[in-house]
Amino acid sequence: MPVSRRKVTVIGAGNVGATTAQRIAEAGVADVCLVDVVEGLPQGKALDLAEAAPLHHHDHIVSGTNDYADTADSDVVVVTAGLARQPGMSRDDLLIKNAGIVRTVIGNAVRYSPNAILIMVTNPLDAMVHVALETSGFPRERVIGMAGVLDSARFRTFIAQELGVSSADVTAFVLGGHGDTMVPLPRLSTVAGIPLPELMKADRIEAIVQRTRNGGAEVVALLKSGSAFYAPSSSVLQMVDSILNDRKRVLPCAVLLNGEYKIDGLVVGVPIVIGASGMERIIEVQLTPDEQAALLTSSESVRGLIDTLHKLPA
Ligand code: APR
Repeated sequence: MPVSRRKVTVIGAGNVGATTAQRIAEAGVADVCLVDVVEGLPQGKALDLAEAAPLHHHDHIVSGTNDYADTADSDVVVVTAGLARQPGMSRDDLLIKNAGIVRTVIGNAVRYSPNAILIMVTNPLDAMVHVALETSGFPRERVIGMAGVLDSARFRTFIAQELGVSSADVTAFVLGGHGDTMVPLPRLSTVAGIPLPELMKADRIEAIVQRTRNGGAEVVALLKSGSAFYAPSSSVLQMVDSILNDRKRVLPCAVLLNGEYKIDGLVVGVPIVIGASGMERIIEVQLTPDEQAALLTSSESVRGLIDTLHKLPA
């Protein structure tokens, strides 16, 4: 019986895209097709990754292309194409430029992979998920943004460092938009099941929350040019793996809400069950009035970005 090979297209062969391709192939999850607008870049990186395969004991095909015909019949399409944030540049500065890029690449990709699940990575993330939904016409179950997995990984890292415990035992619950308006929920974050507020003073939790909100900018400031890509690509791998292996992981992801969490028509980070059909279910938890207010504020900042995009000529 022929074995069906699973295929992930990664658009954008820069830092996040190439590292994502590496992680997916080397984890043994799928074949990878790397796409970029720059000629030679995806081909060169794909060749280099393919030549590492014997050393990593995987048999996945890693290919590079500038032609979307080569991406045909992908199971998952990951979009990292765009400009990376430079020091002093907010995510919002990237909005208009990256919206144009995302429209182009999504239009091309969905023509060849009409049944794919789209994972958006390009920033500003929540707005780019809206652009992808509009351009693809896909149902919300198949257009998912990567933000919460990264934000919660950063939160977990800082909690583990502060308490001197394994980050494997730390779970972190994060809602809302990516970055500045992220809504971490310490009362639902735990260390081996123990709620965080029982283990850490409120002022230390607040300091860690602030550091997490600023997590992307902290890396940008150190790198001086370019932005984070190791933890972002690991976050994408976790989502791709849950989809292709139908693991039904419960992960915080950016999806379009239709009334859940009292929010309608906006993309917001919430816990979802992510499996073979994409977003399979949104998990709603009871929020305190303060948490609900913070989530609404966060979602309204996304509305501002969408309004800006809709005011521009298409
Ligand atoms: N089609 C395909 N690729 C494109 C296009 C396009 N229209 N426009 C730009 N690209 C490619 C660039 O040529 C570049 O190789 O996208 C790649 C982006 O790579 P980097 O500049 O290295 O940026 P990276 O760090 O990978 O971040 C990509 O992910 O985390 C987010 O904020 C980050 O939005 C940014 C994105």
